[in-house]
Amino acid sequence: MAASRRVAAAMIGVVAIMATIAAVDGLGVNWGTMATHRLPPKVIARLIKDNGFKKVKIFDADATTMSGLAGTGIETMIAVPNDMLSAVGGDYGRAREWVKENVTRYMFDGGVNIRHVAVGNEPFLKAYGGAFDRHTVPALRNIQRALDEAGHGTKIKATVPVNADVYDSPASNPVPSAGRFRDDVAGLMADMVKFLNRSGAPLTVNIYPFLSLYGNDDFPIDYAFFDGGAASGDPPPKPVFDNGINYTNVFDANFDTLVSSLKKIGFGNLPIVIGEVGWPTDGDKHATVAYAQRFYSGLLKRLAARRGTPLRPRVPIDVYLFGLVDEDAKSVAPGNFERHWGIFTFDGRPKFPVDLRGGDGRSSSSSMPLAAKGVEYMKRRWCVLAPNATDDEAGRVADNVGYACAHADCTALGLGCSCGGLDARGNASYAFNVYYQAQGQAEAACDFQGLAVVTEDERDVPSQGACNFTVQVAAAGKTAAAACAAVAAAAVVGLAAVLVLV
Ligand SMILES: *[C@@H]1O[C@H](CO)[C@@H](O)[C@H](O)[C@H]1NC(C)=O
Ligand SMILES: *[C@@H]1O[C@H](CO)[C@@H](O)[C@H](O)[C@H]1NC(C)=O
Ligand SMILES: *[C@@H]1O[C@H](CO)[C@@H](O)[C@H](O)[C@H]1NC(C)=O
Ligand SMILES: *[C@@H]1O[C@H](CO)[C@@H](O)[C@H](O)[C@H]1NC(C)=O
Ligand SMILES: *[C@@H]1O[C@H](CO)[C@@H](O)[C@H](O)[C@H]1NC(C)=O
Ligand SMILES: *[C@@H]1O[C@H](CO)[C@@H](O)[C@H](O)[C@H]1NC(C)=O
Repeated sequence: MAASRRVAAAMIGVVAIMATIAAVDGLGVNWGTMATHRLPPKVIARLIKDNGFKKVKIFDADATTMSGLAGTGIETMIAVPNDMLSAVGGDYGRAREWVKENVTRYMFDGGVNIRHVAVGNEPFLKAYGGAFDRHTVPALRNIQRALDEAGHGTKIKATVPVNADVYDSPASNPVPSAGRFRDDVAGLMADMVKFLNRSGAPLTVNIYPFLSLYGNDDFPIDYAFFDGGAASGDPPPKPVFDNGINYTNVFDANFDTLVSSLKKIGFGNLPIVIGEVGWPTDGDKHATVAYAQRFYSGLLKRLAARRGTPLRPRVPIDVYLFGLVDEDAKSVAPGNFERHWGIFTFDGRPKFPVDLRGGDGRSSSSSMPLAAKGVEYMKRRWCVLAPNATDDEAGRVADNVGYACAHADCTALGLGCSCGGLDARGNASYAFNVYYQAQGQAEAACDFQGLAVVTEDERDVPSQGACNFTVQVAAAGKTAAAACAAVAAAAVVGLAAVLVLV
């Protein structure tokens, strides 16, 4: 009896240990919410904690999202979106309001552990054609000043996440030590960097080895990873030789190009935070689960070893992985892979085994991240092409598939993608189903001029291998109501805290 009680106690201990796992020290993750159906914020916050992430970066300061983070202690980077930069940069009063509503409101015991405010998101991206150039640095100054005046400035620093295209090396000398800021933003970057240094804030940069490879068939693929080609069995990529340093991966080369660019303007020691780095799993021939696993496993081992890069040896790198879960409503302008950046699926299931601690023991490196708990789904039913819908109607089927795909996420259907192997009937069913699920399984969303039927029998659903006909998560009802209640509670407590301070 006593013995079995001891065993039971020991087992409870084991269960408790297994309920969360450790990750690389201080590891962060990006939580984007551009999805037709979002997991409840509390479910996401728990997913973040269970997997040992210490930090999270979000893309706004949405009250629902913040309600999930309240009371968790997770270090949070919130953001002023690009479309607010001109208002916040042009008017200090607006910056003060933003800080009051989106920072001060959460600064109470049990509130949100805000540590950074990202001012804009990649505002100098070439694709924006300079639209945010004038507003970004003034917005950065105004937000930091408002943080300082509200008494949060020591704890909370404003920074600007820039895309890695703000710097490069000349084509005539393509090595990291020749790095410099892009001509058209060099002056802005110098102002920004000077300000960040003075306020004690890091520069934040997003680095994507995947994008070096995407659409560039000449790029040596092994150079995108960290294993010197060992994982592919190829000979190691020819290193880029630079002042006595051999670069064997594009992450190091890219990071050190930034270090050189900073050094050139006198700020070679400014702290750098990697705001986004990751690998997508679908939507392109190089966006696969296997490559993502290879990338993350190499990256995490690197981070755990705290080796830094050749120009910043032994300086641990602060990193936010991109991203937590897939987002089926993101713009696919950059490419179909945009909706597949999650380490986890849209419903919080891990996509591949990887040791988030960055260990290299064989058994631990094959450990699965922990799935989200408490996920509620809609009813298990699907919308598929009706069995009696015939080839005669090929024109109508195609039209309806086109409609479904214009309004829902068909990126998995592309050539070489996870559902690219379906036949024409399977293809149509897939399109009908994603549309039906995105529309919350509304009855009218599974008609398609009589070509579609709802089924609850999984045998009617042509899922195959990695091509999964999904059932969406429940977005309304109990969970949403609970989230709203939590927001209201946070707001009330926040207000109370403000009143006490006043
Ligand atoms: C606070 O952030 C939210 C979400 O990003 C935004 O909609 C709102 O306008 C901000 N509040 C102020 C006063 O700027
Ligand atoms: C960066 O900031 C530190 C601390 O405020 C200051 O001592 C240093 O001179 C600054 N560096 C430059 C290059 O301005
Ligand atoms: C760099 O790599 C080349 C081979 O590509 C090798 O000959 C050289 O010794 C290496 N240098 C260093 C410093 O590792
Ligand atoms: C398929 O059969 C159903 C009834 O079983 C009917 O309502 C529907 O119109 C038929 N669709 C086609 C395309 O013939
Ligand atoms: C499947 O649907 C997609 C999206 O409409 C289309 O691009 C593709 O050609 C289709 N494939 C087949 C086999 O019908
Ligand atoms: C397919 O997705 C559903 C959730 O929509 C999940 O329950 C199921 O495990 C998935 N199947 C596979 C093979 O991933």
